[in-house]
Amino acid sequence: MALIAVTKERRAGETRVAAVPETVKKLIAAGFSVTVEAGAGTAAAYPDADYKAAGATIAKTAKDALAKADIVFHVRAPADAEIAALKKGAVVAALLNPYQDKAVVAALAKAGASAFAMEFIPRITRAQVMDALSSQANLAGYRAVIEAAEAYGKAMPMMMTAAGTVAAAKVFVMGVGVAGLQAIATARRLGAVVTATDVRPATKEQVESLGAKFVAVEDEEFKAAETAAGYAKQMSKEYQAKQAELVSGHISKQDIVITTALIPGRPAPKLVSAAQVASMKPGSVIVDLAIEQGGNVVGAKLGEAAVTKNGVTILGIPNLPGRIATDASNLYARNLMAFATLLLDKDGKFAPDYEDEILKAALVTQGGKVVHPALKG
Ligand code: NAI
Repeated sequence: MALIAVTKERRAGETRVAAVPETVKKLIAAGFSVTVEAGAGTAAAYPDADYKAAGATIAKTAKDALAKADIVFHVRAPADAEIAALKKGAVVAALLNPYQDKAVVAALAKAGASAFAMEFIPRITRAQVMDALSSQANLAGYRAVIEAAEAYGKAMPMMMTAAGTVAAAKVFVMGVGVAGLQAIATARRLGAVVTATDVRPATKEQVESLGAKFVAVEDEEFKAAETAAGYAKQMSKEYQAKQAELVSGHISKQDIVITTALIPGRPAPKLVSAAQVASMKPGSVIVDLAIEQGGNVVGAKLGEAAVTKNGVTILGIPNLPGRIATDASNLYARNLMAFATLLLDKDGKFAPDYEDEILKAALVTQGGKVVHPALKG
């Protein structure tokens, strides 16, 4: 029977966990056995006793948990000591941040692990249930609005009171992928007046269907700005300049700006300049969701609330899903549970089919080498 180990997240500030009692129960029903390191779920409000009740063995240390594990589930990459404790040939599945964290990928290769980057799960229908980028981005988009509302010294909805009218907040969402769409929906629910922009033409209709207004330069380049995989292309300097000009006038009138723009494998595009930040009213709030990929906003600082001279707060909060750890863990654990079924053959034996389209796309290391084409060389 294949053994899955789930150990504590050792990266500072990581509150999520890669399995929850419900998924442990289902994994066991599917034919796995599961070991959970003591305390692994505490920060996400899942106590050891619940894992035990679900059928898991509780291991005292990560080393104990990993010693015999065929499969290791993690949120972020395992720590060095954990990689050193892996059984040779163990399968590791985690959000490895493979483009940025090359050292971890190399260490996993060296340890002989078959490591899967959950970021590389292809966005095909069959893999939707394993799409961890989406499950986490969705919660990040929600949480970004909550953080903005908290930092904003005024109300979100319009309120008519005997003492006068409170104006609705104007929220501008830049980048309308999974996170951006949820940010729009959340801000709308709170009563804000929402506008949004993206370089992919398909987003226009999505923005409008959520009751927000679309703002973008819709030229020929814009019409061709989506890759076959549905991601954004890096835009030309000329387009970026036109876009910047259009949004400049718009940003100066906004109360809250939420940026989520990413291009896979590249630093996040800079969408908000220092001059644009300076044009905003005192008390305005910007949330930069792309901060861990370098940020969309000039002046955003990782892990800090930067307040500009003109009184604009720029939030560079890392790991927003970690601020909603219980739900984020629950959804991520379900992504991994679905992934685990790919590691079994028809008879329920641990025998990953490395020719499977999904496994092939997400595999980054195997047999002592880095094997993913986007990471080699
Ligand atoms: P992402 O996290 O890679 O990027 C976020 C957003 O930033 C994207 O909408 C992108 O177009 C936008 N962006 C990039 N550069 C920009 C710029 N210069 N200005 C403004 N916006 C910019 O995107 P995410 O959330 O991962 O979604 C990517 C695509 O995948 C979308 O088409 C989404 O609908 C699709 N998708 C498909 C799924 C499926 O079929 N299973 C599941 C989830 C997403």
